[in-house]
This record gives sequence, structure tokens and C-alpha cells, in this order.
Amino acid sequence: MVDLKYIGHSAFQITSKDKAVLIDPWVDKNDNYNWHEEPISDILLTHAHGDHLGNSVEIAKEKDATITAVAELAGYCKEQGAKTKSVGLGAWINYEWGRAVFVPAFHSSSLPDGRYGGSAAGIILDVEGVRIYHAGDTCLTGEMKTLKELYAPQIALLPIGGNYTMDVEHAALAAKWLGVKTVIPMHYGTFPEIQADLQRFAQLVAFGNTVCQIVSPVGTDVKNGN
Ligand code: NI
Ligand code: MN
Repeated sequence: MVDLKYIGHSAFQITSKDKAVLIDPWVDKNDNYNWHEEPISDILLTHAHGDHLGNSVEIAKEKDATITAVAELAGYCKEQGAKTKSVGLGAWINYEWGRAVFVPAFHSSSLPDGRYGGSAAGIILDVEGVRIYHAGDTCLTGEMKTLKELYAPQIALLPIGGNYTMDVEHAALAAKWLGVKTVIPMHYGTFPEIQADLQRFAQLVAFGNTVCQIVSPVGTDVKNGN
């Protein structure tokens, strides 16, 4: 059983076989999520911006978890004392809970100290045969058609807030290009400039067999894989 938990903004926890992986854990805004209690073995980061790097280093140190990120960002986390795994885009990385591949995202990435953070990325995870695409921060890009061909994701976690990323119209088109069955919106409402019309997004995504699941960022569980 794969358990997918939305923590808020772009932060998700995926749990399988008593291991939990965090993606972009900017989690200190959510009082209902207590990471100290979770069996976190890995943290995967799409890029270095503070709303994605979040509490990664603190969590990695306490949980003895490994941060996986592109080389520049992994290097920064290592300097901060975390265990890291440095990767590039396009290769499957194996874990106890499954595997993941970092894929292109069209966005910038800078470290907290202003240095270049390496390529921004999206991440495809394969957990118990469930393929989940976390888009990170990105605009709509034709790469998403390639992601469908290469990885055939079933679930997409897509930014919809506009300004820095796709808006609801482009995210709906992304869902179509990706060919996913389930779309979960993220990266909206947190800042004044990334407000989004969720009802409109749900309407735009309602094509074919695709379903939009709007998950409240308070630790609501969504069961997937069936
Ligand atoms: Ni960003
Ligand atoms: Mn962001």
C-alpha cells in the first residue's frame, strides 16, 4: 500500500513498506504534521529555493535520512552536515521503497547563500508500481509529452499557482499531455502572488478518465494504487 500525504505547498510524504520519503519538505508551517514521528529514510529535492529546500537539513540530521538532489544542491546540503546523494537528470536511482528519476523542469534554482543551485528538476517516483510525477516548479513544457512516453505516470502533483510556475490552464494541459489518471494541485495559495481558482482547475482537468483530487494541506491521507 502506497500512502501519499500532502503536507502543504509542494511538500509531500510517500510511505511504503515502513519507509517514508519526503519531497520538498517545507513543513514547519503545518502544525498537523509531526516529522519527528515519521519513518523518514529519504528526502528528495526538486530545487534549492527556500520553499522547497525548507526543513530538509534539520530533518535529515535528526532522522539520519539521505537528501537526494542535483549535484550543486546536494553539495550545499552536505556542507550543512546532511547525508546526501548527488544525482543528475534522467537516470533511475534505486531505494528500499522503490526508485526515482529526476527529470527536467524549466525554472531557476539558487542556494540560500546566493550560489547557483544546479538544474531545477521534477521527480518521477515508482513505488510499488505506482508512478507519481512531482513537477517541482516549472512552466508548461513539451518535455511532459516525453515524460508520458518514457515513464507513463499515473498521478501528477502539479503547481497551479502561476507567477513562478504553471497556472490552472497550463497545469490542466500538462495533465492531458502526461496522460495521468489523477492530478493533485500544489504550489498555490501560500503567497499572495500564487492564488488559484481550484474549482476552475477541477473543471479544466475533468476530461476523459482524469480526476482532480484537491487535498487539503493538513495531513489528509489519499490512498492510491487502485
Ligand atoms: Ni522555485
Ligand atoms: Mn516554489
